[in-house]
Amino acid sequence: MLYRTNAQEGIQKDQAERLRLIMKDKNVKSEVVGRGPRVITISSGKGGVGKTNIAINLAIAFSDIGRKVVVMDADLGLANVNVILGIIPKFNLYHVIKKQKKIRDIIVDTQYGIQIVAGASGFSQLANLDEEERSTFVEGLKDLAYADIIIIDTGAGVSQNVLSFLRAADEAIIITTPEPTAITDAYGIIKSISAEVNGPNIKLVVNRVDSVMEGKKVAERVINIAGQFLNIKVDNLGFIFEDVVVKRAVIKQDPFIKSAPNSKASQSIKHLMSRLSHIEYREGGGFSRFLKSVFGGKY
Ligand SMILES: Nc1ncnc2c1ncn2[C@@H]1O[C@H](COP(=O)(O)OP(=O)(O)OP(=O)(O)O)[C@@H](O)[C@H]1O
Ligand SMILES: [Mg+2]
Repeated sequence: MLYRTNAQEGIQKDQAERLRLIMKDKNVKSEVVGRGPRVITISSGKGGVGKTNIAINLAIAFSDIGRKVVVMDADLGLANVNVILGIIPKFNLYHVIKKQKKIRDIIVDTQYGIQIVAGASGFSQLANLDEEERSTFVEGLKDLAYADIIIIDTGAGVSQNVLSFLRAADEAIIITTPEPTAITDAYGIIKSISAEVNGPNIKLVVNRVDSVMEGKKVAERVINIAGQFLNIKVDNLGFIFEDVVVKRAVIKQDPFIKSAPNSKASQSIKHLMSRLSHIEYREGGGFSRFLKSVFGGKY
């Protein structure tokens, strides 16, 4: 172009600046997580919608197809990943944030194939970390560079802590239930993420549905509203059936995907996992047939 107006020049400068910001952000991400692990956060607006159960059971489903998975309990007010697994770790993220331990020192192996990094239940001051403490924490993710997948249970609501994890993530899975309050709060958290520069890819899971139709309807509602009012794309990852095995498993401290592998809730989790890994999962043949078809005779 021979002649450029000031306005055009301004636009080009803006675009260059935006690109620089995006590149900068990309560098931060790859610096934090290296090229290795896929970082997936599990969040929700409303509490008690099933995040921790989904994080753990999804992690085990990935581990069952041979992935190295670490679940990190970043719910700093009310940690419960270890409670659901019935594990009492000696050290947790409290010690990391207070610089007494490195994340690599507090990783715990479990009998389910996955590893966990325990949260700091009961230390309510951790719900409001300062900038330095937060960066110590996110920096710590580097210790997990050997993993294939890091699943972070962020706790409910939008705090600076939650947002800093979402920033480091490749994908943010937002959990809602069909209840109107949960849906409204899910929209709230999607709105906060949408304000982030170069934010994660957002995926929605509707938990505790009674029918396929209910799952579809709720997802469509949230996705349409997000598209219309926030101009943001939210992917429909799927739904999880209401299932009594979830509560039973929590009480027994034994994940339902292991204690009730053929239950509706477990089938739902396997569907989510297969969508996330782009592996086709067909019901009926059983998970072992699915594994055989993917990995040959290994399973
Ligand atoms: N699909 C389901 N079917 C039946 N009950 C469920 C299902 N999902 C979750 N629940 C019930 O909801 C409870 C809360 O689940 P969970 O602890 O995973 O939620 P959360 O979002 O992590 O909560 P918090 O915000 O307090 O961390 C479970 O103990 C279980 O009783
Ligand atoms: Mg939880």
